[in-house]
Amino acid sequence: MLGHASKILVRSRFAIAFTGAGISAESGVPTFRGSDGLWKRYRPEELATPEAFKRNPNLVWEFYKWRMRKILEARPNPAHYALAELERLGILKAVITQNVDDLHREAGSKNIVELHGNIFRVKCTSCNYKENLKESGRVKGFVESRDLPKCPKCGSLLRPDVVWFGEPLPREALDKAFRLAEKADVVIVVGTSGLVYPAAYIPYIVKEHGGKVIEVNVERSGITPIADVFLRGKAGEILPELTELVRGLR
Ligand code: OAD
Ligand code: ZN
Repeated sequence: MLGHASKILVRSRFAIAFTGAGISAESGVPTFRGSDGLWKRYRPEELATPEAFKRNPNLVWEFYKWRMRKILEARPNPAHYALAELERLGILKAVITQNVDDLHREAGSKNIVELHGNIFRVKCTSCNYKENLKESGRVKGFVESRDLPKCPKCGSLLRPDVVWFGEPLPREALDKAFRLAEKADVVIVVGTSGLVYPAAYIPYIVKEHGGKVIEVNVERSGITPIADVFLRGKAGEILPELTELVRGLR
């Protein structure tokens, strides 16, 4: 199976990756829907909707600051590094991710499309102010503060620059992702349940345009029915092996 997948990749002309929370699981970042997933312990409608934020911004910010702290402790794992290596080898042209954790960037991937935002970015609820807390060097003080964060431009409440349930995806990112999917002849789908739309359309678009779907997951997902190759196992083990095989074939 791995051998077959590596041949598909080496022969490809425009391969992309589509990733979800499972690729960061081995970095210690909790997934959403697994047995110990976040949405098993918390109710998304109380923490990840615009209504929840209006009702109780303190609770929502507490949840996001907790996740920021957890993600700050996390390092990319061999799966993130393998995708960055496939890009350096010229095989992978882009990584489309549903993750907000920034670990693809930390691992060295360059062409990244973030469909659900980035947990280290904040935006104003009134004006157009946006800030990347990692880039401004404010992230440490920010996660430790118990105060509600306010906009330095207009004084309104800041919110995480992530997509909540019921909100549209960032237009530019979604357009770019769909264009990449239409062009791709292979997509490597890693660690996603494939249940959240419109993101989950990505592999279907590749397939409809005649491309191949290689899936890496510890269990079957919403994408598995259209997978040409299903590689069952941990992303942090399978992707480095796959990359090694690809390197050998080139
Ligand atoms: P999920 O939590 O729904 O799914 C995680 C997937 O990763 C599951 O299919 C697991 O089987 C798989 N998995 C777990 N550990 C793995 C490992 N070590 N190697 C490979 N696979 C592994 O996460 P997503 O599909 O990313 O949306 O969820 C999609 C969206 O739902 C998220 O972006 C988030 C959430 O609500 C927003 O916040 C808008
Ligand atoms: Zn503002």
